[in-house]
Amino acid sequence: MSASGAEVRRAARIAVLPSAVADQIAAGEVVERPASAIKELVENALDAGATTIEVTLEEGGRSLIRVSDDGCGMDRDELLLALERHATSKIRSAADLVGVTSFGFRGEALPAIASVSRLEIASAIEGGDGTLVRVAGGSVTDVSQTARRTGTTVSVGQLFYNVPARLKFLRGARSEWRAAAESLIATALCRRDLRLGVTHDGKSALTLPPASSMRARVAGIWGGAFAERFIEADDVSGPVHICGLVERPADVGTASRRIFLSVNGRPVRDAGMVRAAESAYRSTIVPGVRPSLLLEIVLPADAVDVNVHPAKAEVRFHDRWSIERAVERAVRKALGEPSSAAFVGGARSWTYTPSPASLAQPVDVEVLDSRGAPAEGLFSAPPNAYAPATTDALAPDRADSRPVDVPPLVQLRRTYLMFERNDGVVLIDQHSAHERILFEQFMNVLERGAAPSQRLLFPATLHLGPAEGDAFESNREALTLLGFEVEPFGGHSIIVSAVPMPHPRFDALRCLRDTLDALTGDRLPSTAARHERLAATVACKAAIKGGDTLSQAEMQALYIGLAATTLPAHDVHGRSTIVQITWDELDRRFGRK
Ligand SMILES: Nc1ncnc2c1ncn2[C@@H]1O[C@H](COP(=O)(O)OP(=O)(O)OP(=O)(O)O)[C@@H](O)[C@H]1O
Ligand SMILES: [Mg+2]
Repeated sequence: MSASGAEVRRAARIAVLPSAVADQIAAGEVVERPASAIKELVENALDAGATTIEVTLEEGGRSLIRVSDDGCGMDRDELLLALERHATSKIRSAADLVGVTSFGFRGEALPAIASVSRLEIASAIEGGDGTLVRVAGGSVTDVSQTARRTGTTVSVGQLFYNVPARLKFLRGARSEWRAAAESLIATALCRRDLRLGVTHDGKSALTLPPASSMRARVAGIWGGAFAERFIEADDVSGPVHICGLVERPADVGTASRRIFLSVNGRPVRDAGMVRAAESAYRSTIVPGVRPSLLLEIVLPADAVDVNVHPAKAEVRFHDRWSIERAVERAVRKALGEPSSAAFVGGARSWTYTPSPASLAQPVDVEVLDSRGAPAEGLFSAPPNAYAPATTDALAPDRADSRPVDVPPLVQLRRTYLMFERNDGVVLIDQHSAHERILFEQFMNVLERGAAPSQRLLFPATLHLGPAEGDAFESNREALTLLGFEVEPFGGHSIIVSAVPMPHPRFDALRCLRDTLDALTGDRLPSTAARHERLAATVACKAAIKGGDTLSQAEMQALYIGLAATTLPAHDVHGRSTIVQITWDELDRRFGRK
């Protein structure tokens, strides 16, 4: 092959694209579908200081997108410049990108949309004349004066009319509308100060006045009943502030799931953060259902890079791990609040600030009976066949010794405890509550070291089946930590010489047998998962049952023990330990309201 032939071919292979084609290709990154154009236009309006935005769509945005704002507007020169690529009023240098607080910073969105649609922009600055610009496929076809108020209206007709390849990939109007609505809702949740109206195919779809809180915004979008499903999360971990609304565990799975996440005021997608938040629900909901989560993450600007995704739908965290832990912690903390317990009816009148007698308050575990002596109860040394315990390491943490106000408690059907609060009636399931208490004590023991056990006067032999024998072998160490002193004794038999004694009614041998039976066939990936499973199983087998009559002192001990747990309102199987009825709800049912 001659040298000149190779040159010809190379010249034929590489050529600079005409700018219109290059613009269309670049536009493909920014504007994927109507929803992405809508997002860019609404964000431009917000950056222009708009307090009211009206969005009009036809066919999910396929045939028309119109975004009208009352922001600062543009004069004629600015308007023409805004259509040029890389023309922006928002940053001046690359250094400005760190900590950029406007939604826009690239000067890409308007020219990108212009290059793939028929565009009309009318804009006026305060006290200035209005300008109307028409653009088709990126070329300005008409500039004229127009009378209008301060602000901007951008109308995008026939998106992708000149890019058949893109047009072919657009979905039907219904699914484009769904994507558009999702994006508009994300903006509305981010910017609750905004008044937003959305009209689709001539019908009003959203009318949102400015909202004073996330809950009020949620009520505006999805209705008041939906807003009541949530509890507030608010937590600061070092420089990271997490707040928002998370779904009450008892309600999870009973309505469409909604996910919203923002980072420093930008709506983003982030599967890792959502997973971190979900992992906080561990043991409070049954596996397989997933909670609605509306979370805002605020952190120092230099801890996050916002310029990593063409549609700005994702950000990059410099220390993702610690932010995921902060999210998990914030959600876990919210799930520890009494308001996270289940409600009969709605939670409408419940005060979201914990009251002084709140179940979430750290408390002293010592219970005095009416004579002022420590009560014999669920946590005291057992007066039975076992030798007395030396210390009570299975009792909750005593670090905080403020006394707790225990309200008068009533046992119902030997199954539930009932008491009243300022805001309503609270019912506790005695078995679930005890299970939660024991679970956390056992986890504590498994994480921090062994519990003292009580030597049996007569060691007992248990005969196990092969599967239980396997379960014993794989949990032997953890069982020892919990206080079961057990040795293999040939075949499938084991000898039990000491057992834990978490409460006087505890039947250790039966608990051990039932636990091994329940753990057969388990193949858990990590020690942590095995520990959690073992603690939950032993807690379930060891806890008092429904049908057990409790003394006043035992009920008080249960109340106090539950208050000392991290998740008092939830048992370990995804069920509620507490159900509440507000006075408001009762009054309504009795026709008093
Ligand atoms: N609704 C509007 N009101 C006032 N000015 C606007 C409006 N929309 C766009 N502009 C001006 O036009 C410029 C270009 O907008 P464009 O969306 O293309 O880029 P950007 O917002 O700066 O960055 P990005 O590409 O990241 O969105 C903006 O910087 C802004 O000055
Ligand atoms: Mg923009």
